[in-house]
Amino acid sequence: MTKYGFTEQFKKHREITGLFNTLKALTKTDILQSLEKGTTKEELSQKYNQYLINLVIEVLKKGRIISELNKKLFLNEKHLPKFPFFDRLDVISSYLPQDNEISDLIFEKLISNNDDIISPEPNWNSKRLSKIGVFAYSEEIKSLLKSLENTKIEGSLLDLGAGHGLYSIEFAKKYPDLKIFACDLEKVVPLTKQNVQKYNLEDKINIFSLDFLANQIEEKYNNILCSNILHKEKRDIVLEKVYNALYSNGKIIINTRVLNTINKNLYNAVSALYWYINKGKIETIDFWKDILLKYGFKNIKVCGFYELHAFIVGETI
Ligand SMILES: C[S@@+](CC[C@H](N)C(=O)[O-])C[C@H]1O[C@@H](n2cnc3c(N)ncnc32)[C@H](O)[C@@H]1O
Repeated sequence: MTKYGFTEQFKKHREITGLFNTLKALTKTDILQSLEKGTTKEELSQKYNQYLINLVIEVLKKGRIISELNKKLFLNEKHLPKFPFFDRLDVISSYLPQDNEISDLIFEKLISNNDDIISPEPNWNSKRLSKIGVFAYSEEIKSLLKSLENTKIEGSLLDLGAGHGLYSIEFAKKYPDLKIFACDLEKVVPLTKQNVQKYNLEDKINIFSLDFLANQIEEKYNNILCSNILHKEKRDIVLEKVYNALYSNGKIIINTRVLNTINKNLYNAVSALYWYINKGKIETIDFWKDILLKYGFKNIKVCGFYELHAFIVGETI
């Protein structure tokens, strides 16, 4: 349990509904029948959305519905009796909790040829960001700070797209000598200010509005935090600006979801699947290393993980 007390319960709920929604979507395809006989990832990928098949397989593996033996995937007989009338796959769905929206989405994307999902930029508002803040605050920020313990964080730090401001707040608490700057869109800044005031850190954290897509980052910093802001087409625009806004030997600190984490547990596998059907692909750590190299960063290292997230640091020359 975290200080908010709901996280474990939320996770359990997501694991169970995620597993059931995946199974429910599969009952509309012939995938369960193929798994009953034994099949391979490659065979399934020929017929269904390749990216999503990988996510589905991880969900089924971690949910112990299937096992992999000599590259072949099989339904786990010993778990089957848990489902009434499992010998009639077509009736499973009536026994599963109903969340048609999610299982329909999984089914739709499974049969779609289009691997990439273009999700529109969300409406960033206080309510949405406060929610993100509560989730992030529970463990993610603590894990990020812990993972940075062997990295020198000195001078100044810009929290780009700070939103709720909780990352800046925790950095200010942990690094009292660090000069912290937090910026976000004009309409979001009041929320950042409100939270910073709550912790009496107005003197420590300088808050200003900046649209990082439309504008340049005017000042130079020793560290720039990019936490959950480098989605899709934003990456190329933002990474170049960040590089130029860092002093020599400056650090970019990235917090992002990565695909490598899906095989860790059922929660991560379901989270990645939900993320994909709602928002689009998650990239691998190698992708992030390559893109950071492309924009000139060196000494790129992965400092730690939290759930789907990886914390990646790169330095300017
Ligand atoms: C997913 S939230 C991340 C918030 C926080 N950094 C975290 O990790 O929890 C994305 C943030 O980026 C901000 N953002 C999106 N587009 C932006 C832009 N063009 N300029 C500045 N901030 C932007 C949003 O307002 C939001 O606060």
